[in-house]
Amino acid sequence: MKITKAVFVSSSEKATGGPHTRLPEFAFIGRSNVGKSSLINCLCAQKGLAHTSSTPGKTQCINRFMINDSWYIVDLPGYGYAQMSHKRREKLASIISDYVDNAEDMVLLFVLLDSRHPIQKIDLEFLTSLGEKGIPFSIIYTKSDKSGTNALKARLEENAATLAQYWEPLPDILVTSSQDGNGREEVIDYIGTILNNITTH
Ligand code: GTP
Ligand code: MG
Repeated sequence: MKITKAVFVSSSEKATGGPHTRLPEFAFIGRSNVGKSSLINCLCAQKGLAHTSSTPGKTQCINRFMINDSWYIVDLPGYGYAQMSHKRREKLASIISDYVDNAEDMVLLFVLLDSRHPIQKIDLEFLTSLGEKGIPFSIIYTKSDKSGTNALKARLEENAATLAQYWEPLPDILVTSSQDGNGREEVIDYIGTILNNITTH
């Protein structure tokens, strides 16, 4: 699949605040600053489409982008940014859980993890809560450009061992860099395959 058109459509604090066009949605979630908005820009090949920042807590709403006039990418706020005020953090948490629990057209949630770090407690808690709710998810590692090949391989193997304590089989896992485009085609094709399955069944 190719992404030939990507247009910002709506920003809301409620899952149901979108355009009501009943198209499939693929949403991106993960810790603040993990690179959700950057990956969306990379996939769509449009630098300023989703707003990014080196300071965590940039994305504060449910932002929908219509892709190829037929499906949506959804950029969500991040979780786990300790420096944010308690009130603000609670607000973002409620926006995220509203989306996760109520987004009727969400086909899949991509949970992003930083490829440099061990899986954090907050990520495991989030992933486990998805498992409990039966929400379909896949994992995307970000920032693969920041590690050497051997360090990256070792990190991913260690993290896979952690995930294996909770999931058998393991969830699907993709590896990306918004900086150098690593994994871009794989993510787009991954989404394309799911969309094909939806339309042919
Ligand atoms: P919030 O909206 O605050 O939750 O953050 P986010 O997950 O949307 O992160 P964002 O895309 O804004 O990126 C955060 C920072 O990481 C920015 O400074 C990006 O330039 C940087 N970044 C994101 N992806 C990559 C990547 O693949 N490689 C490198 N080197 N930097 C990245
Ligand atoms: Mg963001």
